[in-house]
Amino acid sequence: MSTSQLPEVKSTEPNEQGYRSYSLGEFTFRRDEHFAHIDWPTGRHVMAVEPFLKALMRDIAWNFFYGTVNFDSVIGTVNHYGDVDLFAGRFNEDYRKAEIDHLENFPHDEIKATFEAMLGDWVNESFDPFAAPQETGSAYGDKSGNNMAAVTRTRVTAKRMIGMPDDELLRSDESGYTVNRMFADVDQSEPEVKVEPGYEKEVSAFSLFKYLSRSDVTWNPSVVSVCKDSLYCPTTEEFILPIIHGNDRVEWFIQLSDEIIWEVADRETGRPRANVVMKAGDCAAMPADIRHQGFSPKRSMLLVWENNSAALPGMIARGETPNVPVEF
Ligand SMILES: [Fe+2]
Repeated sequence: MSTSQLPEVKSTEPNEQGYRSYSLGEFTFRRDEHFAHIDWPTGRHVMAVEPFLKALMRDIAWNFFYGTVNFDSVIGTVNHYGDVDLFAGRFNEDYRKAEIDHLENFPHDEIKATFEAMLGDWVNESFDPFAAPQETGSAYGDKSGNNMAAVTRTRVTAKRMIGMPDDELLRSDESGYTVNRMFADVDQSEPEVKVEPGYEKEVSAFSLFKYLSRSDVTWNPSVVSVCKDSLYCPTTEEFILPIIHGNDRVEWFIQLSDEIIWEVADRETGRPRANVVMKAGDCAAMPADIRHQGFSPKRSMLLVWENNSAALPGMIARGETPNVPVEF
């Protein structure tokens, strides 16, 4: 007889504020009213609990994403697509010099189970870590209920393309997704499609602006089309990207509306490399050796184009393909 075993989550009884503490290898995570406290054998770190939970939410929802997810300049994860590094100070020049940085590798399912348990326990009823600041209550205070509906949300993924048979439609009031307050001016009409008989299941079109105007989350790309390794991941952004993403491949951005300011730094050290202001219609290729964080003053629409090929990180690490899409 075979039994499937769920990964063990190591946690304590609730503390005075009602929150459990969690451990992964030699890392421990503890929260109180205001802060997340992270300890490891050679150091300790503290983050305000709201940005910590917003980063933790993205790391889980994106399944550790591509490359590095920095929660801030100290804590984060590196995805090796099967197993995941949890680190403190690994991508911080000064922590490295002082030799207080720490890194441990965990099976994907083990770190995911612990992170999910921590998120479920530490997010109160009033707080939605996916929402824009004006669309959620507070993350702070003693434990008060939970918001499992918000924290177990998964990204919307198309099998072929939105609008094709079997693919999820988030394009009408009936779907439960209404137009966001900041996209009230977005045209809600759909393109007219006349299909040659026999091709009804092959031809489709939809208004991406209408689709995105109904997104109720920020900084959470939905995969709307898949063509081999080419993923179109448009998203709506407001306020600050809750993580600092360290690329392991080139990543393309097309700013579809409004404006995002990007701080771009060296992936390894965090040293600043560029500030990029992207206005509607601008296109940029973020190199494979950078980290970046976006600031969106008004809710905006961004198309993120990802090359999902599993071969890319190795090819880039071995120098077989450049860190930029074009060398002039
Ligand atoms: Fe990125």
